[in-house]
Amino acid sequence: MGIVVLDFGSQYTRLIARRLRELGAFSVILPGTASLKEILAHDPQAIVLSGGPASVQDPDAPRPDPKLFSSGLPILGICYGMQLLAHHFGGEVERGKRREYGKALLIRHEGPLFRGLEGGVQVWMSHSDTVTAPPPGWRIVAETEECPIAAIASPDGRAFGVQFHPEVVHTPQGKRILDNFLALARVERDWTPAHVLDSLIAEVRERTAGKRVLLGVSGGVDSSALALLLSRAGADHVAVFVDHGLLRHREREEVEGALRPLGVNLRVVDARERFLSALRGVTDPEEKRRIIGHEFIRVFEEVARKLGPFQFLAQGTLYPDVIESAGGTGAANIKSHHNVGGLPAKLGFALLEPFRYLFKDEVRELARLLGLPDGIRLRHPFPGPGLAVRILGEVTEERLEVLRRADAIFIQGLKEHGLYDEVWQAFCVLLPVRSVGVTGDERRYGYVVALRAVTSVDGMTADWARLPHGFLDEVARRITREVPQVGRVVYDVTSKPPATIEWE
Ligand code: XMP
Repeated sequence: MGIVVLDFGSQYTRLIARRLRELGAFSVILPGTASLKEILAHDPQAIVLSGGPASVQDPDAPRPDPKLFSSGLPILGICYGMQLLAHHFGGEVERGKRREYGKALLIRHEGPLFRGLEGGVQVWMSHSDTVTAPPPGWRIVAETEECPIAAIASPDGRAFGVQFHPEVVHTPQGKRILDNFLALARVERDWTPAHVLDSLIAEVRERTAGKRVLLGVSGGVDSSALALLLSRAGADHVAVFVDHGLLRHREREEVEGALRPLGVNLRVVDARERFLSALRGVTDPEEKRRIIGHEFIRVFEEVARKLGPFQFLAQGTLYPDVIESAGGTGAANIKSHHNVGGLPAKLGFALLEPFRYLFKDEVRELARLLGLPDGIRLRHPFPGPGLAVRILGEVTEERLEVLRRADAIFIQGLKEHGLYDEVWQAFCVLLPVRSVGVTGDERRYGYVVALRAVTSVDGMTADWARLPHGFLDEVARRITREVPQVGRVVYDVTSKPPATIEWE
């Protein structure tokens, strides 16, 4: 049931699957060269051929099983997928002399694939080869200024090729186009987040039967949702939460309160003393990160030895992490700053990464179904090294306490004013300077706290958040009143680039 997406190596393949899920269609991604038999084993109602970097002119370019084309299954070829269709059915595909990349407008479109589209239809192009003549009997059903054959349809109206990418957000009506294809192919639409969850539970249950799983929980949505998934799947697991002393106000209690009642076998390791003494006297940000990463791995190793053996290390890796680290599978894909990145190879674990094909908002949705409280589910990202990179200069117990209290006031204020969900990330930074102030008749030198709040889509670029002046005023007053060590509050109005989101 559903769709088989044949993957020819496009960076967007998962995005196709994700859009199909959003449209309620189940999909399986198979290698582009899968045999018709393997494809039919999934009982698909339609096929999507993804884009890819190859050229159909190359003798060793990846191609689908030729029998697929006469199987009678409806096919949508995207970019390279369209070129495969054109090439197979006798059209012409020319090697591009230059790459067309970016937005384009359809100056003409027709037929059922484009039914219901409104106004000027913007599409996203990213290709170098182009179809220069459609196969005999095929119709050209869309064109742009630059690309006279932007979409083609087979004589029987069951196969389509589009040169642009309907799956990306830069093709704003792309989802409608995919929707039309699903309707034409009469694909069933019963794929919901609840189904995704059921299949993940089944997968985890099957893979971990008779095995033991170790998991690091950071308190973020991904690892928390994963802990709940393991629990729901009945996996024999230990979820380790390392309290490195660099956490926010009441963070540890919140994680415990959310996960334990839902059956997560949570072990909290109190390693505060150990981290803080390792950080004593250290002011260089990269050195702080290195020490924290190193201590983290040591603590984790100790736990693994004490409570082991474990066969699996579960990680909340998401699809964007996989793309970022250049695709493929296995340990090579772990983000370099991932806290337990060095572990699998060292301890000989197999990796269990059930979310590796999902996007953040999909995991948030699963987390909701798994019962994760919104406090954690919708929480802003928090760096692995925690408050250590938000205290500029040396990290001390006293500074941590000052920062924690100021930060809690800022965050609480954002929540009370309905602003928390409007920003990507918000936090306080403790600066290593003292500034003068007056309280009564006395001149006092207090800490300076910077408020940082940014809007962003993915953290790669960010804009400073235009928080209302009245709100900033209220937060500054509360912080200086309730945290007497702070004498001055400033607001960071720098975007990324040139600044980064964090200060260190
Ligand atoms: P920057 O400061 O680089 O941050 O603009 C982008 C995003 O990454 C987070 N960040 C980190 N996360 N370890 C982490 O796990 C780190 O060392 C680290 N440094 C920054 C930051 O909070 C933001 O979401």
